[in-house]
Amino acid sequence: MPHSVTSKQVGTATLSYDGKSAPLPVLAGSLGPACVDIRKLQGELGVFTFDPSYGATASCESSITYIDGDAGILLYRGYPIEQLAEKSTFLEVAYLLLFGNLPNTAELGVFTNGVTRHTMLHEQIRRFWDGFRRDAHPMAMLCSVVGAMSAFYPDSIDTQDPRQREISAYRMIAKIPTITAWAHKYNAGQPFVYPRNDLNYSENFLHMFHAVPAEPYTQNPILTRAMDRILILHADHEQNASTSTVRLAGSTGANPFACIAAGIASLWGPAHGGANEAVLKMLAEIGHKDNIPAFIAQVKDKNSHVKLMGFGHRVYKNFDPRAKIMQQTCYEVLEALGIKDEPMLDLAMELEKIALEDEYFVSRKLYPNVDFYSGIILKAMGFPTTMFTPIFALARTVGWISQWMEMIEDPQQRIGRPRQIYTGAATRDYTPIDQRG
Ligand code: SDX
Repeated sequence: MPHSVTSKQVGTATLSYDGKSAPLPVLAGSLGPACVDIRKLQGELGVFTFDPSYGATASCESSITYIDGDAGILLYRGYPIEQLAEKSTFLEVAYLLLFGNLPNTAELGVFTNGVTRHTMLHEQIRRFWDGFRRDAHPMAMLCSVVGAMSAFYPDSIDTQDPRQREISAYRMIAKIPTITAWAHKYNAGQPFVYPRNDLNYSENFLHMFHAVPAEPYTQNPILTRAMDRILILHADHEQNASTSTVRLAGSTGANPFACIAAGIASLWGPAHGGANEAVLKMLAEIGHKDNIPAFIAQVKDKNSHVKLMGFGHRVYKNFDPRAKIMQQTCYEVLEALGIKDEPMLDLAMELEKIALEDEYFVSRKLYPNVDFYSGIILKAMGFPTTMFTPIFALARTVGWISQWMEMIEDPQQRIGRPRQIYTGAATRDYTPIDQRG
């Protein structure tokens, strides 16, 4: 079960307003800056706090993932991402995120067996695909099919039953590769390939994605390892937009499949997980190194609303450690595939170099994030551009479900409900339509 480190009071901050003072506890967790606990502020001073995009607000206590944005550090349950990406496997990382510690051999065996035994979808779910247009974006299919899972697995949607929560976690982690691969098969007009339980998690996904009945599919161990690493790097990232969406939906008591569907919808946007698809579109539009200066000028022009996709992060103000591992993995994949000259990679590297020397990006501390290189690797591995964000969703499912489980088990948990500063009309009386101007 997830171990929870409860924050401790390390001081008191005092806020004064309108002749009154409120002593506010300052809380600290195991790592990172302390937080002022403002829960009693309204009662004491009659005011709320205003933080529209939550840049200065901790929404929960969590013991799953830690980020030090200034130092470029990312830890899953205390383990540096670099070590996990090099030495671990996705299912081991999934166990770690869900249960708090690395598994021993027996525990990993039981977990792997549990995930493997849930890889098939209810056969009736197959029929959902008949209702989609052939060119439907796979994220739309993911959202719908995952949401519909609550109708197919009603025996695991009681959020108050720990056993049902655990079964849902297994089901989500096991079935999301099948759903993702089938969304692609539907787009491609190829037959759905059923899961194979003799393969490991990444091998099984690659098999369902790439195999066709007409010929055998051969696994390339370097690509399988790269797939596993990509999944590890995307597995969790503390309270990002999609995870916060899952938590907010979950705080109402909604079932886990509905909550994950909400997370998938939130991830889709180009400011979040949709950025990996947007990076490749951006590179294709730039087309050639000679066009980079004109593109950078557009990005710097506030009126253009053009962003350098794959750059910038709310928390990382130094570098995203995942981007470095992605870049290294990119070289390995291209070498394994015998690709000596990849124009997209050359263009991306030149763009990165120019941006990292430009005052606009330097002064705003904008660095490549996880999405900058992932699209180039995924493209080289034969994934169509529209599948990049679904693969992010596949990996993040374990993070979402871990965070959802942690939230449900938190004794302090109650419905998430922000307030607002109302700026509309003051109270006024209804006038009959014939008396309105
Ligand atoms: C992910 O939160 C997570 O953890 C997310 C994630 C995860 O694993 O869950 O890490 C995954 O979502 C990665 C981010 C993918 N998105 C992109 O690559 C899209 C491009 N990046 C941005 O739109 C942006 O940087 C965000 C959304 C990632 C962060 O937005 P913030 O924190 O609100 O930053 P900001 O808009 O306040 O930026 C500060 C300044 C602004 O300029 P000024 O108004 O101060 O002059 O930097 C500028 C921004 O306009 N800026 C950019 C830029 N990113 C920020 N300018 C040009 N290109 C960019 N990419």
